[in-house]
Amino acid sequence: MSKLSQKHLLGIKDITPQDIQLIFETADTFKDVLNRPIKKVPSLRDITIANIFFENSTRTRLSFELAEKRLSADVVNFSASSSSVKKGETLLDTVNNILAMKVDMVVMRHASPGAPHLLARHIQANIINAGDGTHEHPTQALLDAYSIREKLGSIAGKKVAIIGDILHSRVALSNIFALQKLGASVMVCGPPTLLPKFIAQTGVKVETDIQKALAWCDVANVLRIQLERQQIKYFPSLREYALYYGITKKILDSLKKPIVLMHPGPINRGVELSSDAADSKHAIILDQVENGVAIRMAVLYLLAGSAN
Ligand code: CP
Repeated sequence: MSKLSQKHLLGIKDITPQDIQLIFETADTFKDVLNRPIKKVPSLRDITIANIFFENSTRTRLSFELAEKRLSADVVNFSASSSSVKKGETLLDTVNNILAMKVDMVVMRHASPGAPHLLARHIQANIINAGDGTHEHPTQALLDAYSIREKLGSIAGKKVAIIGDILHSRVALSNIFALQKLGASVMVCGPPTLLPKFIAQTGVKVETDIQKALAWCDVANVLRIQLERQQIKYFPSLREYALYYGITKKILDSLKKPIVLMHPGPINRGVELSSDAADSKHAIILDQVENGVAIRMAVLYLLAGSAN
């Protein structure tokens, strides 16, 4: 069996283009499995996986749990809001207690950037980062890139604009790393206050005019305004943001060219995307969600077989 170069999936920054290609090829196989009447394979029988979520999630958590169950793993779920974290238990104590119950892999979402990296230095289990604060969300970037490959046939040479709240987004950084490793050109677009100063150093184009970004790109990956991470006001109002940066079907149709519209979810309908854009023929948003299960099956399967 081919192996990943890493024991953990902490971020796209750490993995190679060959790792990404291997994940995609493995996901192709699992996508075939998911389209069969019997969707379950025994690949991770006797492997126990803990999904530990210190932040809210719908898509990522369900997608990982489904991927694990399709691979016949034993699954335990942990939600910080109903746990002893509320009584003051530390992250390391929490995870060590879970591992004492003989868990092989940990899928973790945490509000602090670097939390899964800290775990990886202290415990033996394979760690998968399911989103660490504003840092990285590697499986989201993998499923996004995989969905572009599926829709357009390839990623090399394609132009992808990531639009919206780049400053607070872990999806943006992981997408930039993944798309550049696969040979795409990447632009970020948003109000100047939502574009981090360091972003140009990653090699992306930087644009504040959304019309120019949409005219340039083959793919628009639109991000949510993350009000829950904003301690200060970065723009006057959501209404004004929607007026200047909201994407409608009318705007997409006026481009007079094919454009693929993506969003990692959850969508703020009427803010970054109008409902008629989100539900239009341009959008592949639910394809992204569908592909997430195959991508996560591939990551789990390959990490389970990686060198320890
Ligand atoms: N895309 C994504 O991470 O969604 P959730 O926050 O619902 O998991």
